[in-house]
Amino acid sequence: MIQRFGEPQAAARWCAEQRAQGRTLGFVPTMGALHEGHLALVRRARAENDVVCVSIFVNPLQFDEKSDFERYPRDFEADAGALDAAGAQMAFTGTLAGFFSRELRADGSFDPAFLEDPGAPAQGLEGALRPGHFAGVATIVRRLFETVRPARAYFGQKDFQQTLVVRELARRLGAPPIVVCPTTRERDGLALSSRNVFLSAEERARAVAIPRALEAARARFAAGERRASELARVLRDSLAGFALDYATVRDPECWTGEEPQGELERAVALVALRLGAVRLIDNRALHTQDGAL
Ligand code: PAF
Repeated sequence: MIQRFGEPQAAARWCAEQRAQGRTLGFVPTMGALHEGHLALVRRARAENDVVCVSIFVNPLQFDEKSDFERYPRDFEADAGALDAAGAQMAFTGTLAGFFSRELRADGSFDPAFLEDPGAPAQGLEGALRPGHFAGVATIVRRLFETVRPARAYFGQKDFQQTLVVRELARRLGAPPIVVCPTTRERDGLALSSRNVFLSAEERARAVAIPRALEAARARFAAGERRASELARVLRDSLAGFALDYATVRDPECWTGEEPQGELERAVALVALRLGAVRLIDNRALHTQDGAL
């Protein structure tokens, strides 16, 4: 049966015991509302480590919209059951005060002086559209790493820019190695997301345009197109009529806030759009057959 802890100090003690017994710890940080994509991370972590631990914490520091934070789906019981079945040994949650006892002000708010600098990967796209988001992610992920001290940590490619922020953080901290796992998709190609449950049937049907646009850009890259501007035009043409936040192309090895000039050897196409009240993001590598980086 999976071990559960409601506060990070107890989780840290459990992790320390595991390490003392010579076990390697794989760590999957989540905000809960788990779906098959999270469980794929857990299975990969299980295959590569002795034990797997998962955090479930809807981190208020990374939400730029209060309404998004408040309605984010939460079901710790269902999540713990799914994690158990997927082979995780421990799941923990906590409160902001539990994670940051020294960083809160008297009124209970987080003191911004303690926010982590998310570094250069936070430039552009999500970083520009969601001010403070990556600082909030980097701050909690650092604390989670300090709590678990894992041998490896697992993140999904769907949040591509987040994987860059987390890699940069781990590089600064000196650990842990970051494993980025391919995006899990529905049969029609839509990337799994905890927010998909908020799509109406009509919006869900329209959402398939996102993986189709990414595929159109891949086909164009395979046909020899190497200019980011042209590849991005294919994305935008395919998504005409959608409320786009962005549809763009970057060099995955060399992040820039702006679309790169010149020819790309490797490319990642990235899309963010709003369907009704739901914001969806997705990406794929254009230089690989399956879109994985
Ligand atoms: O990707 C997520 O679910 C969150 O951003 C993370 C990494 C768990 C930090 O809160």
